[in-house]
Amino acid sequence: MESNNNNIENNNNPINLIVFEFFSGIGGMHEALKFQQNNINIIEIFPFDINQNCNVTYKYNFNITPYNISLESFSINDYENFFKKIKNPHKILWTLSPPCQPFTRQGNQKGLEDNRSKAFINLMNILENTCYLPDYLLLENVKNFENSKATEMLIEILNKKNYDYIQFLINSKEFNVPNSRLRYYIIANKNKKFKNNNKKVIVENWNEFNNINNKSIPTIKDYLNYSPLFESELKDFYISKNILSKESSIAMDIVTLNDNSTICFTKNYTKLMKGSGSILLIGDDNNNDEKKDLISLFGKLRYFTPKEILKFLNFNDNFGFPKEITIKSQYKLLGNSINVKVVENIFKYLFNNNNYIN
Ligand SMILES: C[S@@+](CC[C@H](N)C(=O)[O-])C[C@H]1O[C@@H](n2cnc3c(N)ncnc32)[C@H](O)[C@@H]1O
Repeated sequence: MESNNNNIENNNNPINLIVFEFFSGIGGMHEALKFQQNNINIIEIFPFDINQNCNVTYKYNFNITPYNISLESFSINDYENFFKKIKNPHKILWTLSPPCQPFTRQGNQKGLEDNRSKAFINLMNILENTCYLPDYLLLENVKNFENSKATEMLIEILNKKNYDYIQFLINSKEFNVPNSRLRYYIIANKNKKFKNNNKKVIVENWNEFNNINNKSIPTIKDYLNYSPLFESELKDFYISKNILSKESSIAMDIVTLNDNSTICFTKNYTKLMKGSGSILLIGDDNNNDEKKDLISLFGKLRYFTPKEILKFLNFNDNFGFPKEITIKSQYKLLGNSINVKVVENIFKYLFNNNNYIN
């Protein structure tokens, strides 16, 4: 197999970890941590989110109710109080997925000036002033975050506090997933220096960085383990004639089961036609011209289901949504979430002693 040094297990005992999962959403970070059994032992995990739909979904899947408090007003005292109950030796991990809207290319690009960045700024203030500094940190956001004042602020604090860090831009396609999700990640370690690091450069090719030989991306059909038997149960996901007749529909990204890529599913999937996620053409129809004659494709075009998107995002098959979360809300929550496989591998990198100078 490929010489992926992330697959080499730690020689040491698992790291006892207290996890602060800031902006926890539906728990993508927690899901990715589940795959680190050899490397870590989670003593406590504290998720935080202000969205009720996120929190009930999180509870449904992990049996933990996230703290429904705004991180804008989370004080250093609030944070440090968490440590009063914890007796055993442990390390601290912060995961952060701050709202990306202020940083997206389609958004207002106000960055830190946007009110939605206040919670991030507040956490940076805690990072700068707390005596309970995280030993490990992982932040995820959209492409473009790397050029923002937010990254500048984070890196300035990391430098001041003597962290070592690596920045990445990773597309889930690099992990042989037939779905494109390009995201910015930064990992940091308070206690050790990474071996393979040039702080000035953002790593843009994960596979090359890790000496991994890329395999080929499977078709959507194979990846989803698609069976036509269930198609009759998916009537609600088929696109209506009304929508197909709209001019905006021409911008839909249509894929067939034999394709091996889909575009990023965003929180606007099913709401906006352009750039919000691919549409599935049922039948092995590869004729591009026909793809454009949308009305004639009525009855053949459907949205990918939330279950299918969960699979593209590499959540495990048991992950689900409670009944009260509407399909529309499910798309929204999924659009805001992360690719678990990508983050799982970044965590493996972060927790692997072999990646550090001894
Ligand atoms: C990009 S999403 C996080 C996605 C998450 N990693 C997941 O896997 O679903 C950002 C999250 O931040 C939450 N959020 C936004 N402002 C917040 C605040 N002031 N305090 C706490 N959570 C907040 C949103 O509700 C949203 O779920």
